[in-house]
Amino acid sequence: MTMDQLKRQAAARALEAVRDGMKLGLGTGSTAKHFVELLGEKVRAGLDVVGVPTSEATRADALRCGISLTSLDEIDRLDLTVDGADEIDPKLNLIKGGGGALLREKIVAAASDRMIVIADDTKWVDTLGRFPLPIEVIPFGLAATRRALNGAFAEAGVSGQMDLRRAKDGHVFVTDGGHWIVDAHLGCIADPPRLARLLAAIPGVVEHGLFVGLASTAILAGKQGIRVIEAR
Ligand code: A5P
Repeated sequence: MTMDQLKRQAAARALEAVRDGMKLGLGTGSTAKHFVELLGEKVRAGLDVVGVPTSEATRADALRCGISLTSLDEIDRLDLTVDGADEIDPKLNLIKGGGGALLREKIVAAASDRMIVIADDTKWVDTLGRFPLPIEVIPFGLAATRRALNGAFAEAGVSGQMDLRRAKDGHVFVTDGGHWIVDAHLGCIADPPRLARLLAAIPGVVEHGLFVGLASTAILAGKQGIRVIEAR
């Protein structure tokens, strides 16, 4: 079984939670793309749902698949968001943003009654931090923001190199919101809620990729089968 087949299996299991009439948050990334494609098949077979995409890429995929879209300006709450993750810990804290969509992903997840995270089981970790933590920043005053980030890291008992993310063409990567991303190589984040609070308090930080208390369920697909983990 390939990694891509595992991702599709996790997406297929999440689809079982979707009911007629639901308002759905649609995640971003290769795993979430499988969910959008499978959802599209159901929609074409008559399922009535409406989605809020978490990126321009997902918007294009969803429209291509025939899924009706809306926005958080038109509706109050979403019933369910299904999204991928870069790392998931046993408390269902997440690192997200490997694809650069963390800001819209977090806004959509926070507006949802429930969030299901779908992933292949290599994303499951005891402690977050091996995957570099994406931090979306305002370009203005980047050096000052980096100094503040180092201060927050020291206060949270972590440290590591920070890289300004670049696109494949070598230019600075620009998010859908027009911001930049700093990837922090922290190795091990012992206390994600504490680091999340400290990062959120920095003026130049738009959002960070620590998702704390947002995921309700994780669906992990591995060679041994599918594991469903509920948040406690
Ligand atoms: C997008 O910004 C990310 O948060 C993705 O959800 C995350 O990177 C997982 O992507 P894959 O499903 O492609 O691994």
